[in-house]
Amino acid sequence: MASRSSALAALNVVALLVLCGLPATTEAHTQFGAYNKTCPQAEEIVFKEMTAILAKSPDLAGPVLRLFSVDCLLGGCEGSILLNSTANNTAEKDAPLNKGLRGYDVVDSIKAKLEVACPGVVSCSDVLALAARDSVRITEGPYIPIPTGRQDGNRSSAADVAPNSPKPGATVTDLIALFARFNLTAKDLAVLSGAHTIGRAHCSAFSPRLYNFNGSSNASSDPTLDANYTATLRGQCKAGDLATLVDLDPSSGTTFDLGYYRDVAASKGLLSTDAALLLDADTRAYVLRQANATANQEFFADFAVSFVNMSKIGVLTHHKGEIRRQCSVVNPPSAHSSAPMTTMSAHAVLLATSLISVLALALLL
Ligand code: HEM
Repeated sequence: MASRSSALAALNVVALLVLCGLPATTEAHTQFGAYNKTCPQAEEIVFKEMTAILAKSPDLAGPVLRLFSVDCLLGGCEGSILLNSTANNTAEKDAPLNKGLRGYDVVDSIKAKLEVACPGVVSCSDVLALAARDSVRITEGPYIPIPTGRQDGNRSSAADVAPNSPKPGATVTDLIALFARFNLTAKDLAVLSGAHTIGRAHCSAFSPRLYNFNGSSNASSDPTLDANYTATLRGQCKAGDLATLVDLDPSSGTTFDLGYYRDVAASKGLLSTDAALLLDADTRAYVLRQANATANQEFFADFAVSFVNMSKIGVLTHHKGEIRRQCSVVNPPSAHSSAPMTTMSAHAVLLATSLISVLALALLL
């Protein structure tokens, strides 16, 4: 009788431990190497594909990096920016502020390769995160180890975009406040803006600085923009041209380096939001320190930290998201049943099995 009750007590402890283990793994979390067991080659496939894509089209590094930042800063790194509009819903990507985004095909083609290697395992939000960090690495920036295990959301609404995006002409106070909503600091803002060391902007994004500045006259331009640079930019963007693409860091637009900070410090920050970094004491100090730095180590180490901070915004829990089969559309209802077992459902099975064992043993003893 004594051995029976102690065996029962021991089994109850086991059951309790299983139960206690549940919440920790059903909360939102990501981890380094989340695909080590389920798709060990995932990160290598993304890197190999990005290397091949950027070898052919080096100017796609910027669009992919930006796509990830927009996805995260619109409330969560859950791949909602990748979803297409449907008959009943206009998606984030079709909001006016996001019309200039590019790089969707890059994500789709990498995802297609992963679906062949490990069907239904790697989320689109992770593909985007990994492709973005590889954009940095391949353009000679730092290698950034990032946690994975994000799942994909199924909500994407154009109406969410304007209220949650930096407005063209936003002040540095606006930008700091926007970042603070995601627990990102003024330092994160100064560091992540350094991503503008690669990539390009449409003339539409900065031509208000070149012509008819503050509505005074067509000849008037932003006095805080270097005069020679203004003249160069007017050569590249004629009045009314909204479509031409111009390097954000003209000295080294395809290399991830300190060029951006040197531009901004020299009044050659292309976007008004770049120039605005000089108007807050903290962000200004960071810009000037990097502009005068002789080596990129500090910026690279900071960028790795801030990038990971950004990559954690609004990550979905296992039971809230899905592993999209195609990044531009949510899974059809049938795909849910064929999806691999999530950690949550694996735990449910484990728990049920443990409870059945406890009951069976209790009856036997
Ligand atoms: C402070 C917030 C930010 C603002 C206001 C901002 C604004 C912009 C704008 C207006 C463009 C030009 C878009 C176009 O004309 O097509 C751009 C491009 C870009 N942004 Fe940002 N950005 C911000 C933060 C970030 C962050 C956090 C990252 C990444 C870590 C990033 C990476 C890029 C890249 C790589 C490009 C070039 C895109 C391309 O080549 O197509 N930006 N950004």
